[in-house]
Amino acid sequence: MLHPRQHLLLAAWAAELGSVFTFRILLTRVVVVTDGALANIVLGRMLSLDKALEPNLSDELLSIGGHRTMFSAGTRSAYWRLLRKGTADAFSPRAVREAFPDTLRILSNIVENMHRGGASSEWDLNNVLLRFAMDMTSIVVFGEDAGATSTLQDSETDGLFSIMKRSLDELTQRCVNPVRRHLFWRADVRNGANEFWRFRAAMQDLVKKVKARGPVRDSDHSIAAHLLRIKDPETGAGLSDDLLAGDIGMFFTAGLETSGNQITWILYLISQHTDVEAKLAAELDAAGLLTTKSRPQPRTLQHADLSCLPYLSCICKEAMRFAPVAATGTTRIARQAMMLGGYFIPRGSILMVPFHAVHHSTANFGRTAGVFNPDRWMTTPTATAHVTLQDALETAKDVPSPGKSGDVPSVVSVGASTDATAQQAYMPFSTGPRRCLGQPLALQMQLAAVAVLCARFRFELAERMGGPEGVGNSSINRLTLQPKDGMWMRCFPRASGKTAIEAQ
Ligand code: HEM
Repeated sequence: MLHPRQHLLLAAWAAELGSVFTFRILLTRVVVVTDGALANIVLGRMLSLDKALEPNLSDELLSIGGHRTMFSAGTRSAYWRLLRKGTADAFSPRAVREAFPDTLRILSNIVENMHRGGASSEWDLNNVLLRFAMDMTSIVVFGEDAGATSTLQDSETDGLFSIMKRSLDELTQRCVNPVRRHLFWRADVRNGANEFWRFRAAMQDLVKKVKARGPVRDSDHSIAAHLLRIKDPETGAGLSDDLLAGDIGMFFTAGLETSGNQITWILYLISQHTDVEAKLAAELDAAGLLTTKSRPQPRTLQHADLSCLPYLSCICKEAMRFAPVAATGTTRIARQAMMLGGYFIPRGSILMVPFHAVHHSTANFGRTAGVFNPDRWMTTPTATAHVTLQDALETAKDVPSPGKSGDVPSVVSVGASTDATAQQAYMPFSTGPRRCLGQPLALQMQLAAVAVLCARFRFELAERMGGPEGVGNSSINRLTLQPKDGMWMRCFPRASGKTAIEAQ
């Protein structure tokens, strides 16, 4: 079902067989679409297709009492619309901006901890960034961080962070081997089932905790507050505790590995391209944000800076094209027979849009599709200054309604002079009504993390990683694309000074 190197396999098949090809899993036909325009149709609002493979797998972990979550519910279902509409405001420009001070505080924790390691210490940046994502997700979900960045070492007190990690490990193993769940005589399978139980219990505890706070305040923009405000339009009743716990768990799983792993790949790619690293340092320096010998205490990053660092935006955008964490993409089910770009799609087919293959297709991104080049987005500097965060905030306002025309071709628009084919094929957060709801937050997190960490440190791949070849060999799909045994980097402090916020 989920092969660790599936994203590469699909890209290789697409290069050989073309942008639409098909294979079978037992009796089911799978149609793989890497053509940007057709992918937009498959995922778009006009068809509003349901997800195919993801619902049952994600429900194994998240469903409490047999209910669907927002992630697994049908695209035309009343439940999905209610949830999507009811939580969209948690990702409004105001709500995302409100999370910025916490983002800085958590990044400062990380910088402090890393400085304690001394000059050129080695850190598993993947672990560090998953912890960052854990704390940020906790803040936006229920208004408190999970303490995952208070220490960067794995410890017994890791609580929710380790429950999440172990549950997602088990879920991956069940994706790889769909019969695993039935092998109950095996101790590791029983342990995995226990992790699922612990995860659900932790989510139920969170529901109790947020309910114990009393009536939801108008000023509370957390996801939990939004979920608590949702009422069934027919009965006026709120969501049951089981539904609340299931969807709180869904937001945790949607936000954690995606964000943490994506930032890991961004920092890795920067470390491998000295020209990119130098250009970023120059941009941060010009903005007064870089730690230097003559400026040991650079000014603190402001929210407004995120829209004024065009090269930083282009690096993040290009890294999400080159190494999208949702590498195997997403699937939809064709409940009716249909025509797609001249191809007949039989009823019951699974339509698959693999984002890594879409982003590496020369038909979509030209002959340099396989090259990491942030400058490809720099063609119109003024437009690219806003290509990520600002556009994401704009599109977040739009609550999708299935079946209506005027679908957005792609969530993040690109520089105006970039080829239109590339524009519509760029989809790290997917596209259409089921596109990622957390995109504005994810972008804010990655821009801030890269700006703060690269302003304080220079990163070099640790020897134990075996060079770029070793990283390539150890990168695998475990729901998201990630380094199998961490991403160890030598972290060189740029200068010994601290920013005003770290000094507090
Ligand atoms: C770099 C980080 C992220 C990436 C690459 C990413 C990517 C994705 C993708 C590919 C999907 C599935 C879309 C589809 O099936 O068509 C998705 C769904 C979703 N994501 Fe994200 N995501 C990220 C971060 C986040 C964060 C931080 C949150 C919130 C805390 C979040 C919340 C969601 C939700 C709620 C959905 C389900 C939307 C629906 O079914 O209507 N994501 N994301």
